[in-house]
Amino acid sequence: MAENVLENSILIERRMEVETAIENIVESSMHGPYASAMELAREILLAGGKRIRPTLTLLAYDLAGGNNRDEVMDFAVATELIHTATLIHDDIYDGAKLRRGVQTLHEKHGLDHAIIGGDFLFVMGFGIGGRYEENIVRIMAETCAAIAAGELKQIQHISDLSTTPEDYYEIVRGKTAGPFASACECAAIIAGASDSDASTLRDFGMELGIAFQLVDDILDLTGDQRMGKPRGTDVHEGKMTLPIIHALTLLHGDSRRHLADVLADFSDDKWDDLEHLLESGDSFGYCSMLIHNHLERALNHLHNFPKSDVRDVLESMTRQVMTRND
Ligand code: IPE
Ligand code: IPE
Ligand code: MG
Ligand code: MG
Repeated sequence: MAENVLENSILIERRMEVETAIENIVESSMHGPYASAMELAREILLAGGKRIRPTLTLLAYDLAGGNNRDEVMDFAVATELIHTATLIHDDIYDGAKLRRGVQTLHEKHGLDHAIIGGDFLFVMGFGIGGRYEENIVRIMAETCAAIAAGELKQIQHISDLSTTPEDYYEIVRGKTAGPFASACECAAIIAGASDSDASTLRDFGMELGIAFQLVDDILDLTGDQRMGKPRGTDVHEGKMTLPIIHALTLLHGDSRRHLADVLADFSDDKWDDLEHLLESGDSFGYCSMLIHNHLERALNHLHNFPKSDVRDVLESMTRQVMTRND
């Protein structure tokens, strides 16, 4: 119990450091030549994201032996600016109305403003992250290119009932797990860690990120207002998430036809039917087992590092992904 208190207080402390650094960047841009663009972007930027990627960056840096957190802070902030940029654009493709508990930029200000707001945060992220050594900038660029490819593949598979788990994993690695992996790897490189430690942290981030997206996809089917985004966006859009892919593979005959009908023309009065179909094939159970496996692998990667307070915090953060509801 006492250990949990310590882990949580370190986690809160790191999150607050990130929050302050982001607020400082917003504040300083509010008086410069790009004030109008920042005024637009800051609505979403400061609306209460979980800050997982930058917090993970700081913790990975500590675990990798870094001893001057100031040297990694800009990179940590860059991960959040780029992440928020991808969310602004993702919400456009997903037709989402709510993000972080507030109206999405395109809903509130129109498509043109949302495209510009997203581009602005991308450029800010690269401007700040681009001050690091070439290797870091290359990894950042490759990660963003992979997000683009992942999002594109996802769009190509909208309402495609033949989407396979392999397609799903490729999408998830690109759009979500890759950024987790590269945040951890770059943090280790900035800390001056060995290639082997940087690669272990990359593998840790990849497993954690896959589990994180799997949980997100389950929450889209089962979550509530704590998410700050509406339930069911994926189903309304025809997004092929793993619980759906699993059910489509497992169910046969009338049940399979019923599921295909429900998905083809989904409306909120079909929630009970959809839940029943997903439960009848134990699709949530299947996904929970995979989440558990990815988190176990993530923990095993962490165990390559000697036990320490920061390793405990990362372990606790990893376990929290399983039970998160926002
Ligand atoms: C949302 O990311 C997009 C996914 C990869 C599921 P987060 O769940 O980290 O969103 P914020 O940053 O807390 O709003
Ligand atoms: C994650 O996918 C989006 C990005 C990583 C850009 P989702 O589309 O599932 O994320 P949410 O559910 O909108 O937050
Ligand atoms: Mg989305
Ligand atoms: Mg989602």
